[in-house]
Amino acid sequence: MTADKILVHFSQLFNPNDKGRALQGKEMNEATIIEDAYIAIKDGKILTIGSGQPEASLIDDSTEVIDYTGKFACPGLIDCHTHLVYGGSREHEFAKKLNGVSYLDILREGGGILSTVRATRKSDFDTLYKKSDRLLDYMLSHGVTTVEAKSGYGLDWETELKQLEVVKKLNEDSKVDLVSTFMAAHAVPPEYKGRSKEYLDLIINEMLPKVKEADLAEFCDIFCETGVFTAEESEYLLSAAKELGFKLRIHADEIDSIGGVNVAAKLHTTSAEHLMKATDEGIKLMSENGVIGNLLPATTFSLMEDTYAPAKKMLENNMAITLSTDSNPGSCPTANIQFVMQLGCYMYHLTPIEVYNAVTINAAYSVDRANEIGSFDEGKRADIAIFDAPNLDHTIYFFATNLISDVYKDGQCVIKDKQAV
Ligand code: NIG
Ligand code: FE
Repeated sequence: MTADKILVHFSQLFNPNDKGRALQGKEMNEATIIEDAYIAIKDGKILTIGSGQPEASLIDDSTEVIDYTGKFACPGLIDCHTHLVYGGSREHEFAKKLNGVSYLDILREGGGILSTVRATRKSDFDTLYKKSDRLLDYMLSHGVTTVEAKSGYGLDWETELKQLEVVKKLNEDSKVDLVSTFMAAHAVPPEYKGRSKEYLDLIINEMLPKVKEADLAEFCDIFCETGVFTAEESEYLLSAAKELGFKLRIHADEIDSIGGVNVAAKLHTTSAEHLMKATDEGIKLMSENGVIGNLLPATTFSLMEDTYAPAKKMLENNMAITLSTDSNPGSCPTANIQFVMQLGCYMYHLTPIEVYNAVTINAAYSVDRANEIGSFDEGKRADIAIFDAPNLDHTIYFFATNLISDVYKDGQCVIKDKQAV
């Protein structure tokens, strides 16, 4: 079969080994690395990859051949944990943070997530849409072609619905693909202060069925944390969501270890997110129950915490891990997944290959899209991130600079020489 397009002479190409499930432990340090590589594309999908001169049978008069000498390529990056849609911003809390006021204290005083809830409730659909679209543009320009997006800054039906509809519309309009997560259990709304169980009942009895009915989210998530929702409450909500057919995620062991991981293991959630304070026992439980650990090192950085998630220990215990930005206005105001990947090496001491597997194939499994994305296997979407760097080590070593040169989405060049096409 001939290709529509062949991208040739990449100095290096990274392709994860798709084993039909997320890579675990030692497998995360394995991949197919090809020098002088090419990628053949047909109808927006991967036809084949290889090294050197592409076979003559791949090329006819209509095949476009594009030279990428000196550049590194990998599958489009997947940011599998973001709070993309929100009103306002929170730089006014930065001085407090610098003065040592903790994240949970700011929340307790009615700031933090609750400050963004007020701003999001006030923002109309168009304002939220434009703001989130801009963030998606930043992400795309950093090589990200799929983004998971959570609601959770409404904490009432009207605003949660508005956020989910923004995600739906962005998924239709944007070059980036979105995966929607319903997270009305992101905090206890002021109207329900001291009555978290009643709020969860409202979510279970009224919101979740409507989200399901309108097909507005695939996943359900909850913030299991001191002063937010307990492990028992998390199990209560996530069991009900599972019953309704939602796939599950949980924010667990972010600031305090209060049992969220046990809930993840018991309910076999797809992932447990953050895990800064994961314990040895928790790691064992996640490993045994196939829970993907989704790590967010830029959040640790931004919260100015000393303790990074025990990523190496997770791999030693045969866990599967992913990395993502957590992009949100409070605990992690960034859209730069490359910085997250670099922190993965600089702070977790992962290898570059472990990091690239985390943000491609494992992230694809974490959003249940591995049949379409996450590697260059034949028939998957031709989503490609191309770096102005000769090899994968260089993209990590030269940090905090956007090294993307070009991005392809479904076989179309959407970023060329760092500019949107
Ligand atoms: O993943 N931990 C809860 N949610 C976000 C923070 C949201 C915010 O501070 O606005 C997180 O860190
Ligand atoms: Fe988060």
